[in-house]
Amino acid sequence: MTPEETEEFGFRIGTRLQAGDCLCLTGTLGAGKTLLAQGIARGLGVTDPVTSPTFTVLQVYQGRLPVYHYDLYRLRRSEELIDIGFDEYSGPSGVTLIEWPDMFPESMPEEALWVELSPESDGQARKITLTPHGNRYSVLLKELS
Ligand SMILES: Nc1ncnc2c1ncn2[C@@H]1O[C@H](COP(=O)(O)OP(=O)(O)O)[C@@H](O)[C@H]1O
Ligand SMILES: [Mg+2]
Repeated sequence: MTPEETEEFGFRIGTRLQAGDCLCLTGTLGAGKTLLAQGIARGLGVTDPVTSPTFTVLQVYQGRLPVYHYDLYRLRRSEELIDIGFDEYSGPSGVTLIEWPDMFPESMPEEALWVELSPESDGQARKITLTPHGNRYSVLLKELS
């Protein structure tokens, strides 16, 4: 996928998300996790600019649902998740997007859609691999195909 296709794919996902959904976005630095999150937020009706939460760890946006956008890269210990309110927000009220969920795999929700962005061998393109954890996300995957 090109950058435009990555964003547009995020948009398509965003239009189909519902309260309580959680997406774990994996891939190396610069893979396109934030770009995909920007598309997802746009699909959820967020009009504010969506920026990388690398330094704030959490950014909250309001679309047709609240969007909790995390970047766990800078956290050192899983206990810090409690300090930033991870358990409170990752509940049924909004949509949770998590960059670097693989930093603390044991602290991630059992049910989530895992989205992996990986570079293609040639140039800028990215491959996106979706892995549903839980029936809700198998259903979502079918809707997206
Ligand atoms: N196919 C692609 N998909 C997503 N981003 C891409 C792609 N090709 C190039 N890019 C660029 O790579 C960068 C990805 O940045 P970002 O989304 O912040 O990555 P991450 O959050 O994974 O660190 C952006 O500048 C984007 O334009
Ligand atoms: Mg990012």
